[in-house]
Parts: sequence; C-alpha cells; structure tokens
Amino acid sequence: MRILISGVAGLVGSHLARRMAREHEVLALTHGDLDITDGAAVRRCVADAKPALIINCAVLQVDESEQEPARAQAVNVDGPGFLAGAASEIGAEMVHFSTQYAFDGEPVSRLPYTIEDAPRPVNNYGRTKVAGEAAVRAACARSFIVRTSWVYGSGKNSFLCTVANDLKAGRTVRAIDDIWSSTTFVDDLIERMMAIRAIGRYGTYHVVNEGVCTYYEFALEAGRLLGLARDRIDSLIEITHERDMKRVAARPRYTPLRCVLSEQLGLPPMRDWRAALAEYVGCG
Ligand SMILES: NC(=O)c1ccc[n+]([C@@H]2O[C@H](COP(=O)([O-])OP(=O)(O)OC[C@H]3O[C@@H](n4cnc5c(N)ncnc54)[C@H](OP(=O)(O)O)[C@@H]3O)[C@@H](O)[C@H]2O)c1
Repeated sequence: MRILISGVAGLVGSHLARRMAREHEVLALTHGDLDITDGAAVRRCVADAKPALIINCAVLQVDESEQEPARAQAVNVDGPGFLAGAASEIGAEMVHFSTQYAFDGEPVSRLPYTIEDAPRPVNNYGRTKVAGEAAVRAACARSFIVRTSWVYGSGKNSFLCTVANDLKAGRTVRAIDDIWSSTTFVDDLIERMMAIRAIGRYGTYHVVNEGVCTYYEFALEAGRLLGLARDRIDSLIEITHERDMKRVAARPRYTPLRCVLSEQLGLPPMRDWRAALAEYVGCG
C-alpha cells in the first residue's frame, strides 16, 4: 500500500514512518516537504502521490497553540481538513491523531473518558484539536480519528521520553504529582492504529495503555524498573505541582481514556502502562 505521512519529524510521525516502511511504500513528509496549511500544495501533493492512506502527524503543540491562535487554527484545524478533503477526492483513507485534551479532566478520579463523553477542552490546543477532528470527519467519510494521551518513545525531549535515561544517568528530575492521565508507548500506539485500520471500521478511537498515573508515578516506576533503590530514586526525583507551574496554557487534571469502539470490535485491552514502560526502559 502507498501511504503518505505528514509531520514525520515529530515523535509519532518519525516512529510511524519507520514502522510503516517495513511493509509499505511510504512517502514521509516533514514540515519542510509539505506545509499542511497550504491547501493548494496539499491537493497537488496528494493528487501526484495517489496514496491509499494518508496519516497526519503534524500538530502545533499546547503552549504554542495558546500563544498563536491563528497558527493553531491553520495547523490543527485547516490543515487536517485539507488533507482529508484531498484524501476524499482520490478515494483514500485518512488517519488523524487527536488528544485527551479534548476533555476538561474534572473531577479527579472520574471514569475514563469514552467517545460518548462530550468534548470540553480547557485550552486552545484542545479546542483546535476538537475542531480538527470535526474538519476531518466532515471532509472524509473514510477516516479514523485516533485520540491518544501522553505519548512517549525515543527521540523527543519531553519528560516521559527522557525521565528513564535521566534517572539512569543520575540526573535529578522534576516530576508533577497532581495531574493524571493514560500514557501511551509510541510502538503500542502504532500497532493498535494499524490493527484498527485493518479492521476498517471508520470512527473515533481512544488508543492508550491501560491504567492511570501522574508524571511522578511514571518516574517512580521508571526508577524501579531500572533497579534503583527507593532512597536513590527519592533523592533523584523532586516533586512539583501543576498548580505551581504558571504555564501559558492550562492543562486538564484527570484525563484517562477508554476505547469503546475497540471493545466493540473485540480488540484486546492494550497492555498496562507499567509493562509498556518496562519495554521502553529495556530498550534504553
Ligand atoms: N505527544 C503526545 O504526548 C501526544 C498526546 C496526545 C495526542 N498527540 C497527538 O499525536 C499527534 C502527533 O504528535 P507528536 O507528539 O508526534 O507531535 P510533535 O512531536 O510535536 O511533532 C509534530 C510535527 O508536526 C510538524 N508540523 C508543525 N506544523 C506543521 C505544518 N504546518 N505542516 C506540516 N508539519 C507541521 C512539526 O514540524 P516543525 O517542528 O518543523 O514545525 C513536527 O515535526 C498530534 O496529532 C498530537 O495531537 C500527541
């Protein structure tokens, strides 16, 4: 199958392009190769390449979306809509990633969010991602929306991606203990996305590892998996609180996800977050 992937320099896109290239003909496009906010360029590129599947991994991140609302609209809403429209014109399928930040995360300890819960974002990233989902659905009936949460894997400089290596190297980390979500190992995200596409039931999916944790609990578990003594782990982790972070964009507090469609399709639960983290730590 020929697959066009946009935003391939990012965390999900880079892993996805490598994984898909094992079995498919992949056109892996960075921001420099294709700016998804350029509607004419998108149409031209898709018409030339004629992929059977388009996967959009391009996004404007959380704080940037708060600071630059026009760019957030262009990257997170208009661009996905252009890709979906172009997919529809050539009869291609589309996968578009979205986020647990569709939800407001209140109250803490509520049931995990399903697609039956109405989105209620608390920041402009969440609002534009929800609008982007709608733009994709409207433009391409043959689309899969894959909401995921706190994704980690090699190659990105984010807390979840680097904490295990930092602890291993004896570097101190600061870990937030008052927001909770599902975490997602990027390899698991990709395998499940491929399984969903193979089944071919279009709709909105929540793809995350089982279980809920804070960044602090994630760090503790990473230290344990590395075989560090508890007092050593405690000496390396400085606990911090989201409420003290003074961020540009607010973060929802409690956003674990559950996938009703995967359950209906008989897909097994994703592995627990600790098992996924064990594999990641083992690779490092
Ligand atoms: N990572 C997570 O924890 C997480 C959680 C939930 C959902 N998701 C979703 O997963 C998807 C992928 O996220 P990610 O973490 O892989 O993002 P990422 O690492 O920030 O990568 C995003 C990529 O998009 C590119 N991009 C930005 N504007 C673009 C444009 N106009 N045209 C083409 N490319 C553009 C960026 O390139 P430049 O840097 O060169 O601009 C970057 O390489 C997104 O839909 C996101 O909402 C991620």
